[in-house]
Amino acid sequence: MIRPFKTPWGTEVQSFAQLDSTSLYLRQQARHGAPHGTVVVAGQQLAGRGRRGRQWHSPAAENLYFSILLRPSLELAQVPQLSLVSAAALWQALAAECPGLLIKWPNDLYCRGRKIAGILAEMQPDKTRAAFVVVGIGLNVNAVPADFPAELQGQVTSLAYECGRNFELSGLLERILQEFAVFVERFCRQGLAGSIQTLINRNFFLAGKVISMCWGEQKITCRARAIDVSGQLLAITPDGREMAFSAGEAWLEKRA
Ligand code: BTN
Repeated sequence: MIRPFKTPWGTEVQSFAQLDSTSLYLRQQARHGAPHGTVVVAGQQLAGRGRRGRQWHSPAAENLYFSILLRPSLELAQVPQLSLVSAAALWQALAAECPGLLIKWPNDLYCRGRKIAGILAEMQPDKTRAAFVVVGIGLNVNAVPADFPAELQGQVTSLAYECGRNFELSGLLERILQEFAVFVERFCRQGLAGSIQTLINRNFFLAGKVISMCWGEQKITCRARAIDVSGQLLAITPDGREMAFSAGEAWLEKRA
């Protein structure tokens, strides 16, 4: 269990031994008026959710599964950028101990080619603004490869596996939330422009790599270049055109 502590927003972390999903639980709380900066963490999730309806494997007591409620003053178009902002904050909190940590557009952290964390930002719209956003983060902390299902073996990793030591979950969560609050505040003031965009591009997993970009029914192979100031992925097609993707899934081509 996570020990009780106050978040950077002054709320008490809500810690549960088990939940279906921290994000689902927090969305319900948000609808009942929970304040900006409410944080829910679970030792285990019975129905952890990933992007695109996928499951997030959430075994007990080893990893961090948590969600943060934001009521930011942002235009709807800026909200998707919160995934990248969250990835940048996570990178800042972990990179000193986990060299080789990289950000994969639009919302993952990778280490030595394997996924170590996933982010799912879900918004409740209200006319031209977001009523609230729930940012859910799953970080593989003390899991060993054998803890993951066979189909994920070789594709995922954990902090402990990369760093050769176990981590105390409460202290780690506290550190991540501190960075998260700093990055979100900076983003709301100045957008991605400046230090956040620079951090992402310096630590961009896909930079220069050949990827398959999939959006809707469409798919194209191109070479990833950088992330622009609106959080779009810039890539060069085989015939030399630059494309900007605001959403989609980027898969590394094996030959890259
Ligand atoms: C992804 O990479 O597909 C995103 C995974 C997000 C998982 C986290 S774990 C905490 C929060 N609760 C959930 O049900 N999902 C997110």
